[in-house]
Amino acid sequence: MPRKLAAGNWKMHGLARDLSELDRLAADHSVPGCDVVVCPPATLLGPAAARLEGTAIALGGQDCHFAASGAHTGDISAGMLRDAGARHVILGHSERRADHGEDDATIAAKMAAAHAAGLIAILCLGETEAERDAGATIEVVGKQLAAGLDADADADNTVIAYEPVWAIGTGRTPTEAQIAEVHGFLRSTLTGRLGDAGEAVRLLYGGSVKPANAAEIFAITDVDGALVGGASLKAADFSAIIAALEAA
Ligand code: 13P
Repeated sequence: MPRKLAAGNWKMHGLARDLSELDRLAADHSVPGCDVVVCPPATLLGPAAARLEGTAIALGGQDCHFAASGAHTGDISAGMLRDAGARHVILGHSERRADHGEDDATIAAKMAAAHAAGLIAILCLGETEAERDAGATIEVVGKQLAAGLDADADADNTVIAYEPVWAIGTGRTPTEAQIAEVHGFLRSTLTGRLGDAGEAVRLLYGGSVKPANAAEIFAITDVDGALVGGASLKAADFSAIIAALEAA
């Protein structure tokens, strides 16, 4: 059984004053029964790392470039994230796919860059509502998974987050059966590709996870944690989600 993981994605939220939420989180979870990572905006990584030193809360970036360095104004490399104190990086988030036109090949290159820099990559995938309505969910996530995994991906350096696009920030969540179907498919695809190691890859669910629905979601087979957006911004809410995961 892989150790469970609660990951918070702050997206484009957070100023220096919001770092106090991390103090509360670290105090609430000094010896957490699961892994906990917070992915603040890049501007806060350095100060957040200083603040979280000696705590059980890890840090992650929200994206990285696929090159190690170079003339890429505004971009950040995986090595820079690591240098700033991150141990994880979210890649292939649907907001990056939509806002920045990231395709599977770009995401695979970023996965390889993250792994080369020693980061744990959290690969996001998920269908749009139109794709679900068309009955294409499994096909879509299967393609994203196959294309996004780089040659170095293993259970230690890779986490998969299933985030249906229509559930992100909407307050809507899939049924338990819908989550179980996708996670079961992801698990069998991963064991097909990685053998026994596929059993140990953490499969997170993301999309409108809240304190009120967390326990129900964590009870689903092959859900090893969550990637939490809005509810990760306030320590009280994220703490309650972490507690639900610890109890699952
Ligand atoms: P919400 O939890 O705000 O729906 O966001 C989910 C998400 O996109 C996390 O990466």
